[in-house]
Amino acid sequence: MIERDRATGDLLDKLRVYMARRAELGPEVACPGDVTMDEVLGATEVVIRGRRTLMLGSNNYLGLTFHPDVLAAARDALDRYGVGTTGSRAANGTLAIHRALERDLAAHFGKRHAMIFTTGYQANLSVVGGLCRTGDVLLVDADSHASIYDGARLSGATTIVFRHNSAEDLARKLARLPSGRRDRLVVIEDVYSVRGDVAPLKEIVAVCHEHGAYLMVDGAHSFGAYGARGLGRAESEGVLADVDFLVGTFSKALGGVGGYCVADRPELESLRFVARNFVFTASGSPATIAGVRAALRVIARDPSLRTRLWANTRHLRAELIAGGCEIGPIESPIVSIPVGDEQTAISLWQRLLESGVYVNIMLPPACPPDACLLRASCSAAHTTEQIVHAAVAISRMVREAGLKAAGAESRTDVS
Ligand SMILES: Cc1ncc(COP(=O)(O)O)c(C=O)c1O
Repeated sequence: MIERDRATGDLLDKLRVYMARRAELGPEVACPGDVTMDEVLGATEVVIRGRRTLMLGSNNYLGLTFHPDVLAAARDALDRYGVGTTGSRAANGTLAIHRALERDLAAHFGKRHAMIFTTGYQANLSVVGGLCRTGDVLLVDADSHASIYDGARLSGATTIVFRHNSAEDLARKLARLPSGRRDRLVVIEDVYSVRGDVAPLKEIVAVCHEHGAYLMVDGAHSFGAYGARGLGRAESEGVLADVDFLVGTFSKALGGVGGYCVADRPELESLRFVARNFVFTASGSPATIAGVRAALRVIARDPSLRTRLWANTRHLRAELIAGGCEIGPIESPIVSIPVGDEQTAISLWQRLLESGVYVNIMLPPACPPDACLLRASCSAAHTTEQIVHAAVAISRMVREAGLKAAGAESRTDVS
């Protein structure tokens, strides 16, 4: 691709490469990254290309997108506040429900401060980019989400990438920095979105303490799923008080759109003035904010959602293993299935979709070229029949593709 750019000197060439790849697939087949859902039939079913399709590729972990309380709250907010905010909180003002949601989140987490953002992506850009600037040091897990890497770029801080989930490598890299300074931020996720593996939170907290580094944890995929109160892995690992900045998103267990950061540190409040991705973008729509407030109340009062999510997760894993799929040893609601090279992955994914099952597909650069993945996400809303149906379809496709379990397993380490 770079060669072609250089050869013709046309900046549009890099985009024409994608146009050519899309054209090669042809209009009659689905294209990864460009699937239209014509209808949403509920939390677990959609219509794609005229076919009723089981949704196993959303992050709707607790199935709250159609919860009656959430819908009622969103409808009420529409009537009271209208459809949009028409601008940023810094320029155009904050609605009372934005503040109310921030108070709800702080209380829910037992933290002193909370700030919300228009998306989870912008929460990471704002917190990383707001806390760090040129001269500061960011230490980022190698498997971090794009929003963390983009926040690092935006900040101008010196960015050091440490080996995925390696507290030892992090300690080594921190030890090389001048001692006695507090100009460093460690950023990790607690559940990693591509493979669903989990961070060694206690070890990383200990390393941060030892080296005087602040710790930011992106709990996007663990909120609602882990912990006695569903606060995420920081809660289940007993380190909630040790995380300086806990970031999350509304677009997964909370069923909405937006992001948040909670902290005991009052300095968080200053991000309202310095975080560019907060100051210069429109605030979350009233219906979204009200829906998230309602979802938070549902999560607080109904732990059975979490119980169902884990029952479905364990059931899907057991059925996939029984069907001959090789999946990683760590239980999490993200179940990733190694499927080899890009061509095999795309063909498997398309055939699954044609059979009425939608899963995510991970292709380079999200993974190495020979370690592509299909990724299924469980929801509390999936029925037993849906879980069995999905597992049977996935296992059959994987078997027909001739993927050997052991061979696939050897390709799972993308760190
Ligand atoms: C770990 C992680 N952080 C942040 C985000 C961004 O969240 P949002 O999609 O709500 O902008 C995602 C989204 O997939 C994610 O997986």
